[in-house]
Amino acid sequence: MSAQEKPRPVTVRDVRQKKGQEPIVCVTAYDVLFAKLVDQAGVDVVLVGDSVGNVVAGQQTTLAVTMEQMIYHGAAVVRGVERALVVVDMPFLSYQIDAPHAIENAGRILRETGAQAVKLEGGGKRIAPIVAALVECGIPVMGHLGFTPQSVNTLGGARVQGRSSEDEARLIEEARRLEDAGVFAIVLELMPAVLARRISEQVGVPTIGIGAGAGCDGQVLVLPDMLGLNDGFAPRFLKHYAELARIVRDAVRTYGDDVRARRYPDEEHSF
Ligand code: KIV
Repeated sequence: MSAQEKPRPVTVRDVRQKKGQEPIVCVTAYDVLFAKLVDQAGVDVVLVGDSVGNVVAGQQTTLAVTMEQMIYHGAAVVRGVERALVVVDMPFLSYQIDAPHAIENAGRILRETGAQAVKLEGGGKRIAPIVAALVECGIPVMGHLGFTPQSVNTLGGARVQGRSSEDEARLIEEARRLEDAGVFAIVLELMPAVLARRISEQVGVPTIGIGAGAGCDGQVLVLPDMLGLNDGFAPRFLKHYAELARIVRDAVRTYGDDVRARRYPDEEHSF
């Protein structure tokens, strides 16, 4: 491909077809700068997660994240991405009330951001028909099971899900229900690797794991966490692929030292 040629954008169909062929690579992004970098690095899917509430806004949970925030961050990410599929999280209570409300909000997200798909949490008897209604309207949906952060208060914290045999059976059933409702992929968050592998084997759509072991069809990580920007956060599943917090602190400290010592700006950086 020449430098001028634009890459062919990844579609939900491409993501679905990767199951059994090649692992899907997904990271989150919330702004144009990082969106551009992760796209240039060749990820398949960029997720504009409602984790924006935690990692960008400093909130304890994702519950306060609004439609306006998701649209603002979603549109910024779309402006930076040429190739990857962009998926935007639907915020808490933007889809759970009923199907018409969910359709209106998901439609707004796609129209106002230019993203290709939405993600929503849960696979119970209430959520699955809402997913089906969205899919029927031409809105691609990514599911999310296991630890679902919007239910943190019911789940009693960010804990591994599916440890009991009842929970295991429920999660398998929910994954099947989401597949029947038409999702193109399912995020599996914080669950035993054996369960995530079992779910991945039992559904025909790809699973994308976070803290769910190696048996998933792809992996997702929260970008500031995997880049080591959020250096106090170290759950067992997280691997730091860089130590950006240290690099940023060192760079800003050096800049401060230069300003205080009047080394910056020097001749070279002055008009
Ligand atoms: O909001 C988010 O970033 C997510 C990922 C953790 C999957 O849902």
